[in-house]
Amino acid sequence: MFTTPDDCNSMIVKVSGNERPETFFARRNKQATKSRDIGDNCKFSYNVEVQYKRQQEDKTLNIIVTGGAGFIGSNFVFYMIEKHPEDRIICVDSLTYAGNLSTLESVMDNPAFRFVKLDIRDREGVEKLFVEEKPDVVVNFAAESHVDRSIENPGIFLETNIMGTAVLMDACRKYGIQRFHQVSTDEVYGDLPLDRPDLFFTEETPIHTSSPYSTSKASADLLVLAYHRTYGLPVTISRCSNNYGPYQFPEKLIPLMIANALHDQPLPVYGEGLNVRDWLYVEDHCKAIDLILRGGRVGEVYNIGGHNEMRNIDIVKLICAELGKPESLIKYVTDRKGHDQRYAIDPAKIHGELGWLPETMFKDGIKKTIHWYLDNQAWWETIRSGEYRNYYEKMYGNR
Ligand SMILES: NC(=O)c1ccc[n+]([C@@H]2O[C@H](COP(=O)([O-])OP(=O)(O)OC[C@H]3O[C@@H](n4cnc5c(N)ncnc54)[C@H](O)[C@@H]3O)[C@@H](O)[C@H]2O)c1
Repeated sequence: MFTTPDDCNSMIVKVSGNERPETFFARRNKQATKSRDIGDNCKFSYNVEVQYKRQQEDKTLNIIVTGGAGFIGSNFVFYMIEKHPEDRIICVDSLTYAGNLSTLESVMDNPAFRFVKLDIRDREGVEKLFVEEKPDVVVNFAAESHVDRSIENPGIFLETNIMGTAVLMDACRKYGIQRFHQVSTDEVYGDLPLDRPDLFFTEETPIHTSSPYSTSKASADLLVLAYHRTYGLPVTISRCSNNYGPYQFPEKLIPLMIANALHDQPLPVYGEGLNVRDWLYVEDHCKAIDLILRGGRVGEVYNIGGHNEMRNIDIVKLICAELGKPESLIKYVTDRKGHDQRYAIDPAKIHGELGWLPETMFKDGIKKTIHWYLDNQAWWETIRSGEYRNYYEKMYGNR
């Protein structure tokens, strides 16, 4: 359904439950073109453009990106440096096992980029950085992010994901900020049953978490909204579905399967592999966050997802096929405790308000991703061997 309501502020594409992603996107693209045809009459496209222009005319932004040596954070750093070369990016990362400084090698010498090894729980360090850099914007990617690890050791998830977020927001309150953006996850909504493909998470779906990871992220979200309501902190939150793409740590499903398959090692699949995830190419996520920073309404939550639902087992089989490896490598293992069945995002709000649409279809993105891991074998091999942990010493040891 395409609508231009009286206040003409949105384009709404409704998805019917059992619609295939291809059909959805074909329909959506047609409608998106239609919206461009409407041109000036359509306030949403007008607003987004105006906001972008105003931003470009304004002073440049100092943007703190936390967790920028991780998967999505590093992709965001690259995206922003390319898209907004006038802005300055200060990447804050404590380089946990998931942070890999060598990922950022190509931007290290860029004058518009600075890397700071810092833990977001370190209040004194964070305040010192705010005094030095006077950030206009903070985008918080830093987190413990692996569900399995949260089941083994919840404590660090609470400390980093909740307390670390509070430390950052306290500094924002103390020194002032134009925007604090919290990068959250669709996992805060819990899961959906496999036999109800008509259901999707909207921003109004109640929070209903399953794992210590998702609970820590949901707690942080509540805290972010509380800082907005109580102290008037200008915040936004994005809740995104599963990301895939370059530089993902090879403990997560897609890179793990690619790396194991290339070594002819078993491909461990939880349960029967029937769990469904809504996959989004990482660059589409980065683009959505950028749009929210520049045009999103303060105090709002935006869901980000691409209607690219896939069962885990189908992804693993696809990787085998693409790499020419036998499916006999697949090994079904005991299911994860409390394993969520299905995640599916309704991205109508960000689409309607900011014009965001995912640009990379799963069938293209997965090929691109597999080929990236093939072409960058050294990157993930140094992670598997543990050698990447020496990179910081090599870079900064004598400085
Ligand atoms: N990966 C996904 O599919 C996905 C989907 C939705 C939302 N998210 C969210 O996006 C964010 C980034 O996810 P990711 O997959 O890139 O994670 P990641 O684990 O690859 O990266 C996390 C980064 O944060 C850093 N970090 C951890 N603790 C820190 C601390 N105390 N201080 C400073 N830095 C610290 C790590 O060193 C690492 O570089 C997370 O907040 C996650 O919850 C991820």
